[in-house]
Amino acid sequence: MNRATVIFFGAFFALTLSWAGLLLSNVRSYGVLAPYFDDTENKAYPSQVPGLAARGAQVYADLGCAYCHTQQVRGGEPSADLARKWGGRESYGRDYIREERVLLGDLRVGPDLRNFGVRAPAAAELYLHLYSPTTVVPGSTMPAHRFLFATRQIAGQPSPFALDRAKVAVPAGSEVVPTERAQVLVAYLMGLHDGYDYPEEKQKNTPPKKAGEKKPETHTPEAPKK
Ligand code: HEC
Repeated sequence: MNRATVIFFGAFFALTLSWAGLLLSNVRSYGVLAPYFDDTENKAYPSQVPGLAARGAQVYADLGCAYCHTQQVRGGEPSADLARKWGGRESYGRDYIREERVLLGDLRVGPDLRNFGVRAPAAAELYLHLYSPTTVVPGSTMPAHRFLFATRQIAGQPSPFALDRAKVAVPAGSEVVPTERAQVLVAYLMGLHDGYDYPEEKQKNTPPKKAGEKKPETHTPEAPKK
């Protein structure tokens, strides 16, 4: 075998092995995770994503919301994410196992949305935020998503989903209503919630003892003398 062949096969095997290692270590740590069935609640966690919200996840992915919003609450001590109330606990791998496409996000231009459902306002307010962020949060740098809404003539009764006329400019006799994409997106956002603390991961979430902290005294009563 000449030297070039040895170098070629050497490099080939080194790359193949590291690639296989990367793949297998993920399968071993993440791929084996299964939903946890809580006997007392008779429910499996993480819960199944309802169809409407699953379609909303697709809209979220298509529109690139993940470019500015992460969906991963970071733990550790101290955790700025927990201090900001972006979640009640850090995110675990198990939280994502039902998701076809995990949208962890790139940058944190806006707040982390992993538990947005817990702090979400009423749907009407959320639609208004998507239509015109600065109306809800003055100075917001989030882009307006007006293309998710349609302006149409009011025919008969106005739509109960129409945006508040006092807050958005609407021509007389018209209304601004969320399209189906906006509706499924809002259903998705309102359903974002990782509150369940899996027994297996729970202890990881218990803050470690600070150095020098004394163990709580345990008092063992003396056995009564005979
Ligand atoms: C260019 C960056 C950017 C993009 C893209 C973006 N956002 Fe935002 N978003 C922000 C910023 C900044 C804020 C904080 C200011 C505010 O609330 O308007 C925010 C706030 C939010 C909030 C309120 C969060 C809270 O905790 O109150 C929601 C919900 C939200 N965005 C959803 C979305 C959705 C859904 C998309 C995609 C359709 C999206 N954002 C795209 C930057 C962005």
